[in-house]
Amino acid sequence: MKSIIICKSVHKGNTKEVAEAVAGVLDCEVKEPGEVDGIEKYDLVGFAAGIYYGDFHRSIIDFVETVKGDGKHAFLVSTSGFRPLPFFNNYEEKMEERLEESGFEVLGSFTCRGHDEFGPLKLFGGMYKNRPNGKDLTDSKSFSAKLFASFKS
Ligand SMILES: Cc1cc2nc3c(=O)[nH]c(=O)nc-3n(C[C@H](O)[C@H](O)[C@H](O)COP(=O)(O)O)c2cc1C
Repeated sequence: MKSIIICKSVHKGNTKEVAEAVAGVLDCEVKEPGEVDGIEKYDLVGFAAGIYYGDFHRSIIDFVETVKGDGKHAFLVSTSGFRPLPFFNNYEEKMEERLEESGFEVLGSFTCRGHDEFGPLKLFGGMYKNRPNGKDLTDSKSFSAKLFASFKS
C-alpha cells in the first residue's frame, strides 16, 4: 500500500506535527499541495490542515475539488481551536462530502485541538497553548493503525 499525506499547516505547524505522527505509522511522506505531482501512484491519500474560518485551509479544498479520486481511499487530519459540531461547525463532514464528490472513498477523519493565536487571542497567549500534546499524538497514531487495518481488510 502506497500512501501520502497532503498537508498545509500555516499557523503554528500544529497539523504538520500530527500529520508526521500519522505518517510514521503509515510509513509515508507528508507534502504540501504544491509539492505533489499527481496522486495516481498512491492507494491511500490523507488530507491534513488547520481550520480557518470554519473550514480546511483553502489550498487543501482547492486540491480536493480539482483532483480525481478515482475510487482511491482517503482520510482527513485537522487541528483547530474548536471541535467540530453537528449542523453548526462541521468542517469534517463538509470536507468528507467534497472528497466523495471528487470520487474518493473516505475511511475516516481525525481532529484534535491546536494552539490558536487567532487575532486578540495572541494577547493572552492563545487557546490550547500546549496542543497538540502527547495524548493527541498517541490518539492520532491509534487512528492511523485502525485506518491501516481497515484499508488492508
Ligand atoms: C486566521 C485564523 C482563523 C482560524 N479560524 C478557526 C476557525 O474558524 N475554527 C477553529 O476551530 N479554529 C480556527 N483557527 C485556529 C486554527 O485552526 C488552529 O490554531 C490550528 O491548530 C492551526 O493549524 P496549523 O498550525 O496546522 O495551521 C484559526 C486560526 C487562525 C490563525
